[in-house]
Amino acid sequence: MRSKIVAGNWKMNKNLEETQALLTELLQKLPETTAEVMVAPTFVNLAEAVKATAGSKVEVAAQNMHFEESGAFTGEIAPGMLKSIGVTNVILGHSERRAYFGEDDALLKKKVDTALAQGMRTIFCFGEELEQRKSGSHFDVVESQLKNALFHLTESDWKHIVLAYEPVWAIGTGETATPEQAQEMHAFIRKTLESVYGSAVAEEVTILYGGSVKPGNAAEIFSKPDVDGGLIGGAALKADDFIGIINGI
Ligand code: PGA
Repeated sequence: MRSKIVAGNWKMNKNLEETQALLTELLQKLPETTAEVMVAPTFVNLAEAVKATAGSKVEVAAQNMHFEESGAFTGEIAPGMLKSIGVTNVILGHSERRAYFGEDDALLKKKVDTALAQGMRTIFCFGEELEQRKSGSHFDVVESQLKNALFHLTESDWKHIVLAYEPVWAIGTGETATPEQAQEMHAFIRKTLESVYGSAVAEEVTILYGGSVKPGNAAEIFSKPDVDGGLIGGAALKADDFIGIINGI
């Protein structure tokens, strides 16, 4: 059975004190759930998050990392640094990294390879822009994002990959894909995986939906058979909202 995951991407929000406060509240209120729960605070607060969540069900992820293991890359963070503080999950390819920091499929491929070589689990984000959906090219766009960055992987590599379909037009906009649109794309992604890797791999890969998931729409989106949880932005910044979403799984 593939895992269900609810992951909170805090983006560039929450200072140290706010990180501690949100984690304390989250841990106090965390419901019983079979889903994995993950939070991704900013780099400077990752060590604190690892400490605060130690012994709990909550896992910690980084929002990005460099593909080299060390060197002259001012301002960057190496995978070994993350591992040395106990972080073994990393979000790669978020649309904000692609749009504002020029990350393309070729760069992401290198980052994924490094993450795998370092034994880290990758939450790989991808999804079409509004114009691409309007013109009907969204399936092609998604297929090529997957192909370019991931389809060189071996079958066993996929044990360490979580996919996060995040249509760009739904991120931070309040506009959510309908549960049917999410299911349609997730089923397409699984079918595409099956055609390359076979059904055993396709059935085991967790595919998250991201883009304006809220307590009020989470349960319906998560009820779809190919939606295995969510990557949550804005609503992960309030413990009650994030818990409302976890309760939807
Ligand atoms: P959102 O962000 O929930 O605020 O739309 C989702 C994401 O960027 O992962």
